[in-house]
Amino acid sequence: MQNISLFKGSNHRFLLLNESEPGVEDGIPSNQYLIIHNEQGFLLDPGGFGVMPRVLTEMLRYLQPEQIRGIVLSHQDPDIVGGLATWMEMTTADIYVSKIWKRFLPHYGLVGMERFIGVEDEGQSIVVENDFSLQLVPAHFLHSPGQINVYDPVAKILFSGDIGAAEVYDDIDQVYVDDFSAHIPYIEKFHKRYMASNRALRYWLEQIEMLEIDMIAPQHGPIYRGEAVKNFLAWLYDLRCGSDLLSLRQG
Ligand SMILES: [Fe+2]
Ligand SMILES: [Fe+2]
Repeated sequence: MQNISLFKGSNHRFLLLNESEPGVEDGIPSNQYLIIHNEQGFLLDPGGFGVMPRVLTEMLRYLQPEQIRGIVLSHQDPDIVGGLATWMEMTTADIYVSKIWKRFLPHYGLVGMERFIGVEDEGQSIVVENDFSLQLVPAHFLHSPGQINVYDPVAKILFSGDIGAAEVYDDIDQVYVDDFSAHIPYIEKFHKRYMASNRALRYWLEQIEMLEIDMIAPQHGPIYRGEAVKNFLAWLYDLRCGSDLLSLRQG
């Protein structure tokens, strides 16, 4: 599958870098995203060790490594951080990750921890230029205790990390979710097991309430757009998951 331009304006793009080829990733295939604003790039969840060379090849179609200004890690998992050592060698990018994960990351063999920016629990803005900032939005306990999302107000796309992730997909080339009910079987099991609780979901829904969202772009599986965005958020509002489903001997 080709790279997909999710948004294209005169000086702004939001791209899904498509490295997916059957067999390239053992486990759950992941999405890597590149935001370009006036020749400056931001990579969102650049992926594990195995996919790094192909993600780089795709990225080089648009930008040189020195144009990558920031890399955002939604959380600490290996399918996100596994390739980071090489990205850090190739670029001079700042690396954004929740402050609660920063001190664990040297265990991936990373050096240059001074390039890491520990994002506070309430989130922050990354001012890219006077007319453009990226918003890092708290999405804690979904599933990681320190997960952050990225909202791009020009593209009106919310990068949601593991929220909305589809574990296995029959059609690996399907780019968008248009029919949300048909999509539920691909996400239900994952969300019930990995997401911490309904309270965490509702907290997140409050965080994103005021954002104008045309698309929700998860780290795995197809991208929600149109009605599917609304339907997905409504489904999460009522979803019992994680610790909600633990039954105690005494009520
Ligand atoms: Fe994860
Ligand atoms: Fe993931």
